[in-house]
Amino acid sequence: MARGTRRIDHVNLLAADVGANRRFLEDSLGFRLREQIVHSGREMGAWLSVTPLVHDIAYMRDGSGADGRFHHVAFWMDDYSDLLRAADILREAGTRIEAGPAKHAITNGLFLYLYEPGGNRLELFTGGYLIFAPDWRPVTWTEEDRDLRVWWGGELPESFFTYGTPVVEPVKADLR
Ligand SMILES: [Fe+2]
Repeated sequence: MARGTRRIDHVNLLAADVGANRRFLEDSLGFRLREQIVHSGREMGAWLSVTPLVHDIAYMRDGSGADGRFHHVAFWMDDYSDLLRAADILREAGTRIEAGPAKHAITNGLFLYLYEPGGNRLELFTGGYLIFAPDWRPVTWTEEDRDLRVWWGGELPESFFTYGTPVVEPVKADLR
């Protein structure tokens, strides 16, 4: 039986200093780092959780140069076919779809990004993996993995790296 969105899965925020936010969540809130992007020693993204989910929250470096912005909230769907059906329904309804359906390398999640009328980005998400190992070591992605930002299903558009809410004028775009 095809079903719609089931629950909130995770939230993704933009930050000027990913490392500062990552350390705060680890040191003050008990989060564990699950995956990260590091370019030449600079933290570009961090995926953390307090549950077995691969991420409850993620921080990505804001390509606009701003700080403390919202990137997206993700809703869980039970399987791939539910997400593909949702894509058809959203397309027919005229919803603005930014990217997907496609699959991330980071988190192994299947994704679809869309915008609600207020301009916030939402994600439909399924797949991923669960972590139960107490000695889990974070997966680290580097500059050499840039072509793996999407595992399959096309590239992420520039807006994915620079658009967040509230909207700001870009002062730089150096996420890549
Ligand atoms: Fe997400």
